[in-house]
Amino acid sequence: MSSRLLRADDPAAIEAGARTLRDGGLVAFPTETVYGLGANAFDARAVARVFEVKARPSFDPLIVHLSEGSDLGRVVAGDDARVERLGARFWPGPLTLVLPRRPDLPDIVTAGLDTVGVRVPAHPAARALIRAAGTPVAAPSANPFGYVSPTTAEHVVELLGQAVDLILDGGPCGVGLESTIVSLAAPEPTLLRPGGVSREELEDALGASLVRAAAPAERPLAPGQLERHYATRTPLRILPGPAAPLPAGAGRVGLLAWSAAPRGRGYAAVEILAPDGRPTTAAAGLFAALRRLDAAGLDTIVAEPCPERGLGLAIMDRLRRSSARG
Ligand code: TXA
Ligand code: MG
Repeated sequence: MSSRLLRADDPAAIEAGARTLRDGGLVAFPTETVYGLGANAFDARAVARVFEVKARPSFDPLIVHLSEGSDLGRVVAGDDARVERLGARFWPGPLTLVLPRRPDLPDIVTAGLDTVGVRVPAHPAARALIRAAGTPVAAPSANPFGYVSPTTAEHVVELLGQAVDLILDGGPCGVGLESTIVSLAAPEPTLLRPGGVSREELEDALGASLVRAAAPAERPLAPGQLERHYATRTPLRILPGPAAPLPAGAGRVGLLAWSAAPRGRGYAAVEILAPDGRPTTAAAGLFAALRRLDAAGLDTIVAEPCPERGLGLAIMDRLRRSSARG
């Protein structure tokens, strides 16, 4: 199976992608968060191929993507006033809600759970693709399980290349971090994964605080919570504070710096995440920076910490998971 790479702003490419999905194929497509690897959510065989291509464990459910919030009833059972409130404010956008599922959604999508994660992505190509396919699209991030999510079409080609039927190239993702996942199926609204919508904004919209999911269990609620995930192959360590110049003989160390490189030398490679000091800039460039450092033949990567407010919560979450040795 050889993959084709087409421009996501070409209507003919969207039509080709939609046809591929309807025919049971896999299409990698841009979203505002990261690239997704999509299959028709109601085609269990196509969804099985997604798991196979990603080498993803079958206990890890997929997010179902809709082109409109009004399509929610195709995969979700029941009504919930909080969904209307959150959907009105954050959809289309980087928020996934975990809700009671409809029984006719194939079990493989939800890993047998009685809930489904749903989101309406904001990227125009993603919405156009889903709309043209005429079916909800189940899509994890388009990377092998456990590795850093792709934020450009080139990343997808490198990571999954030949295994995908069609790749839509929409350029770099604007947000750069995965969606925030909130469960409304638990007794209290629960933050399963910090992401592109900040906890503060969500709590403001809900008028309630979010419970943070407990430490990952054997069979986690959101396996994105698996401790080692979003990982670089090079060991990564988070520094306690701003980076200092390196002592001699420290080996080949790469630095993931926040807004400026430290004075003095010694780092074999330096990536500055947010020269403008803005968390949105840091988030958009995080995975690409990790990927470059990972390819630089380093012994270690060290990362400066950032305040855990707004997008900083999701950035530190990804860095911690990347630093967990598993
Ligand atoms: O931004 C995103 O969310 C991207 C783009 C492509 O939409 N998708 C993404 O998918 O990050 P994935 O599969 O890499 O991560 C989805 C996470 C997993 O940790 C999964 O366990 C969790 O969502 N999840 C999905 N359905 C769930 C459910 N019913 N209950 C709890 N967690 C769920
Ligand atoms: Mg993923």
